[in-house]
Amino acid sequence: MNLPTRNTQIQLRRQRDGIPALDDFQTVDAAIPDVAEGAFLVRAIYLSLDPYIRKAMRGDHPGHAKLAPGEVIYGRSVCRVVRSRHADFKPGDYLVAETGWQTFASLTPKKVVQRIDPALGPLSTAIGVLGMPGLTAWGSVAHVAPPQVGQTFVVSAAAGPVGGTAGQLAKLAGARVVGIAGGKEKCDVALRTYGFDACVDYKKAGWEDEMRAACTAGIDVYHDNVGAPLLNALVKHFNLYARVVLCGRPADYHQPGFEGVSLGPIIGKRAQVKGMVVYDYEHDMPRYQRTASTLMREGKLRFKEDHTQGLENTPAHFLKLMRGENIGKAIVAVGPEKG
Ligand SMILES: NC(=O)c1ccc[n+]([C@@H]2O[C@H](COP(=O)([O-])OP(=O)(O)OC[C@H]3O[C@@H](n4cnc5c(N)ncnc54)[C@H](OP(=O)(O)O)[C@@H]3O)[C@@H](O)[C@H]2O)c1
Repeated sequence: MNLPTRNTQIQLRRQRDGIPALDDFQTVDAAIPDVAEGAFLVRAIYLSLDPYIRKAMRGDHPGHAKLAPGEVIYGRSVCRVVRSRHADFKPGDYLVAETGWQTFASLTPKKVVQRIDPALGPLSTAIGVLGMPGLTAWGSVAHVAPPQVGQTFVVSAAAGPVGGTAGQLAKLAGARVVGIAGGKEKCDVALRTYGFDACVDYKKAGWEDEMRAACTAGIDVYHDNVGAPLLNALVKHFNLYARVVLCGRPADYHQPGFEGVSLGPIIGKRAQVKGMVVYDYEHDMPRYQRTASTLMREGKLRFKEDHTQGLENTPAHFLKLMRGENIGKAIVAVGPEKG
């Protein structure tokens, strides 16, 4: 990959309700920004595509104002400092930072999410299994609803970075792990790459029978990555006092709305329903990363990434994520790791 000499930006062209379309985005060629005193210039290497970006674009996510046409789309990337007027940031440093969808960004420290230690794993994993999605899984399994040995742990969006990591951590904790995912290819990832005990394709006819067969001992913990319809369908398999971690509901990210959960069956199961937000566990990131990196080296924690090449392909890759067609962590490879 050649080093870029201009700043390519992907900007919002128009807001809309519902799943975005390609022509809601525009690609703009701009000059590489100047670096003010106290700032530093970074070059994006891997851009992170995450479901929350859709909410952030609409101003429905903490810390993100609604985007206006002409503004750069929000997003974090693995990036490298290429010029600096800040004593703490040196050319060559690798960071995860709020760069937005662009090749270069002039940043101040408050836009830095974390420094990357490249010894911990491949650079791209700093936005996947070793990054925010991995920490989300850790927050759920280690803190919000730790499964006990022998319990049945069920996770939806099982092929994704949150679901895949949560299932593997639950299995390491001694649980029997059942994934739910949309399609055979995703279930194969959950079974063969992540080593889940079972995975049910909820888009296949007869999936509820498969679910029953996969959870003969009932469900003790359900990590919910997708929202109401699946939760409503799974409650009947809950054991008494089952625990549910509400983590995400991507169908509702496109417009204000709410898909209803049937509360009666949850009362009947005496289930505990707990919301979780990854920001509560940011203090635990260094410990999580050390633990996860060791597990990765030992072959006990695996990951799957869904890469596309080139910043200009970001909107199409984002729409693939919005349609739920990604298999693994959605990433855009923007530029070379070195240089
Ligand atoms: N609470 C927190 O702090 C926190 C932090 C990070 C992520 N999250 C949430 O955790 C969930 C998983 O995140 P991730 O990064 O690992 O995502 P991901 O699994 O890579 O992608 C989302 C997956 O959700 C499933 N899905 C179901 N209905 C969908 C719909 N209507 N539109 C789009 N996707 C749909 C799809 O998988 P299937 O085809 O398998 O259903 C899709 O591949 C998301 O809901 C995300 O917002 C929450």
